[in-house]
Amino acid sequence: MADRTYLVTGGCGFIGSCFIRMILDRDPQAQVINLDLLTYAGNPANVASIEESPRYRFARVDVRDLAGLESWVEQSDVIVHFAAESHVDRSTSEAAGAFIDTNVGGTFALLEAMRRYRPEARFLQIGTDEVYGDIEAPNEPDEDALLLPSSPYSASKAAADHVALSFERTHGLDVLVSRCTNNYGPYQYPEKMIPLFITNALENIPLPLYDGGTQIRDWLRVEDHCEAILLLLGSGESGEIYNIGANQRPERTNADITKMILECLGQSESGVEVREGLRPGHDQRYAVSTQKIRSLGWMPQRDITDGIEATVRWYADHRDWWTPLKSGAYRTFYEAHYGSGASDFKTS
Ligand code: NAD
Ligand code: TYD
Repeated sequence: MADRTYLVTGGCGFIGSCFIRMILDRDPQAQVINLDLLTYAGNPANVASIEESPRYRFARVDVRDLAGLESWVEQSDVIVHFAAESHVDRSTSEAAGAFIDTNVGGTFALLEAMRRYRPEARFLQIGTDEVYGDIEAPNEPDEDALLLPSSPYSASKAAADHVALSFERTHGLDVLVSRCTNNYGPYQYPEKMIPLFITNALENIPLPLYDGGTQIRDWLRVEDHCEAILLLLGSGESGEIYNIGANQRPERTNADITKMILECLGQSESGVEVREGLRPGHDQRYAVSTQKIRSLGWMPQRDITDGIEATVRWYADHRDWWTPLKSGAYRTFYEAHYGSGASDFKTS
């Protein structure tokens, strides 16, 4: 079998780095090019375990830079586009413009580079279930459902999905879109709820639970997401959209997940601090139908209780990974966003 070159954007982030580790491990023919701008969320430590591999190359490239993409795109067989601004709470601030620039403009530039320099490649747009908006129980939107994004983040991702599919329809490129539910696991930047709550609990500082914690997310372990991506790269159809999710039963609220984290650490709920109004437009529930990808043979392999326990253990064992991330620029964001509730934030 011939070598296959995977161009991965955002491979120093949470999900992209998991995908790179997985593809190098699973496919001995795989060559990986990781293009990442190394924003605050991009961390070379996430790929430290494979950086010496002769099948791995990294370049610091902005996906919005068409000229910078050319030489990389022309040598690729498969493009997996993870790079994005990904934190909803940043998108509800004056930083929203970066979401439109990177998530829409970056997706466009990458597709345009593929159209010009490597039109035979396959392109997977990594999307999110948040594009469907707030979903009333017990509904589970399928891939044809209306898009009703609530935040600038999800709106930018919805626009990026449309741009990607327009290149399939207009230019006949091989493009598909996946839309996954919330991921959790190792190497997730500690601004997202699960790693934030685990690391705050480990530091004995408050867990800022928004709006009573009644909201539902369909948490999926990051490795399950990456396995779904691998399957879609081989068996997904061009022009199609595939939802990916755990379909948790029972559905878990943020308060349930918080309780699970604290139980793993043997801590009481006294550290939970209910915060109101920190997330304008807060969606109550996300859910998706995953019948389409399940019909291709995928299903999640990891149970949420075991998954949370393993994740708590990973953060407890990798303080050296997250301690530097919770200082510097992130501390500034934390204090600005969480305000006086952040007064106990003592990592420096
Ligand atoms: P992340 O924030 O951990 O990583 C994003 C990466 O993109 C970082 O390495 C960053 O440096 C890089 N990046 C940002 N702007 C860039 C640019 N202009 N050029 C090149 N690189 C740039 O994000 P994540 O959680 O790993 O999410 C990856 C993708 O998966 C995103 O597209 C996100 O929308 C999608 N997604 C995430 C989740 C989730 O729960 N985290 C769920 C569904 C879909
Ligand atoms: P998050 O991890 O930011 O992912 P997303 O917004 O993409 O779903 O948030 C998950 C849920 O956790 C969401 O309902 C908001 C809530 N949340 C908190 O309660 N406190 C926090 O500090 C954060 C960051 C999120």
